[in-house]
Amino acid sequence: MEEVFNVLPLTAERAANGHLFIAGHDLGQLARQWGTPLYVFDAQTVYGQVESLRNSLTKNYPGEYEIAYASKAYLSLGLAKRLAALKLGLDVVSMGELMIARKAGYSPELVHLHGNNKSEEEMRFALEWGIGNIVVDSLEELGILESLAREMNKRMNIWLRLTPGVDVDTHPHVQTGHPASKFGIPIEDGQASTAIFRAKRSERLHLVGLHTHIGSQIFEPQAYRRALKMLFKLAEKEDMPLERINQGGGFGVPYTPERPEVGIDVFIQEMAETIREETTRLGWQIPMLVVEPGRWLVARAGVAVYTIGTTKMSSDGTYMVAVDGGMADNPRVALYDARYTATLVERSEEGTPKHRATLVGKFCESGDQLIHRILLPEVRRGELIAMPVAGAYQLSMASNYNLAMRPAVLWLEDGRVEVLQQREKLTEHSWWMSGE
Ligand SMILES: Cc1ncc(COP(=O)(O)O)c(C=O)c1O
Repeated sequence: MEEVFNVLPLTAERAANGHLFIAGHDLGQLARQWGTPLYVFDAQTVYGQVESLRNSLTKNYPGEYEIAYASKAYLSLGLAKRLAALKLGLDVVSMGELMIARKAGYSPELVHLHGNNKSEEEMRFALEWGIGNIVVDSLEELGILESLAREMNKRMNIWLRLTPGVDVDTHPHVQTGHPASKFGIPIEDGQASTAIFRAKRSERLHLVGLHTHIGSQIFEPQAYRRALKMLFKLAEKEDMPLERINQGGGFGVPYTPERPEVGIDVFIQEMAETIREETTRLGWQIPMLVVEPGRWLVARAGVAVYTIGTTKMSSDGTYMVAVDGGMADNPRVALYDARYTATLVERSEEGTPKHRATLVGKFCESGDQLIHRILLPEVRRGELIAMPVAGAYQLSMASNYNLAMRPAVLWLEDGRVEVLQQREKLTEHSWWMSGE
């Protein structure tokens, strides 16, 4: 089997004529029908990930649990409706995400509002709608939320997002639990203790638990142990038996076939063992565990399809292959030096001589590269190329750089093609035409 199938969606297959199929659909045909760049999501891969995580929690965690999808990884109305049907919680961080959750029919108690600088408008919306909880990120925010709740005569469950001072081995831009993080309330200098003290005395806010999210693309399960221990240490000091604990997301996902997967059981077992040890030591009940994965649930389900345009040989002998997308639909390479692989959509590359190549985008930045180093056969203008593991933090961070239109997004399920998002169109009413 071609190695690329280790990172393509679970339903991916190569037909005898070399065509790539996802969920029974010829990807090349879809690309010609819908245009490129095109993003597709394989429903079975998303459902499979949700089921594996549920099974792992049921098998390994001795208490109750909740899974909340971190919608920043990718959200659209269509996806939100499908996740609501699966009864997954939803972690949102903005007015837009709150509105999508409501429009998708989400029950408010399954929605959690995050963010390090929530606007008053977002907090008011959350209080009005009566969402499950707000994850408070600073002492200042605690005070603002308390005043808003009083003014609106509402009550709200809250979590405190804490910064445990834990470093993890991931790109600095996706570390969030280290001492200099912009997220959360630091434990070390006593701010977390102050927040707990104030939250416990609040008449409007009910402190339901402690939250931490130490980063993304984590491949080291012990990092979760270190963070959980910090939360328990604090809870012990504050004499606050934990009823709920939210360990955030961050489970690492391989983007290239050679990167080994950790396995969800390993992460969950590490968390379960730590919580069991700590609660036994303290004589406390097992708390409800909340996990908030984003990437792990959707990344592998997504595939980006591009049309190859210009090719050239650079003076250092690199075969430069340009496609019709790039950093506008996938800024991860420029942001995090992310590594990807790619495969031709309508022929197998097996047994074909290959060049040392770079896959680049069409945008006006030298950093607009999709894959720095890849072996590619000689390709023709108009050929289609697919990049796996495109489901997380690509479309959700897409931009209109060079006034690029955002791609169409399809959901492939049971032989059906459903549109999650139409390709963005340049019209008289577009934002960039809206001024005088
Ligand atoms: C609070 C919180 N929870 C969960 C996540 C999801 O992380 P991941 O997609 O790596 O699982 C994030 C990502 O930034 C986050 O900030």
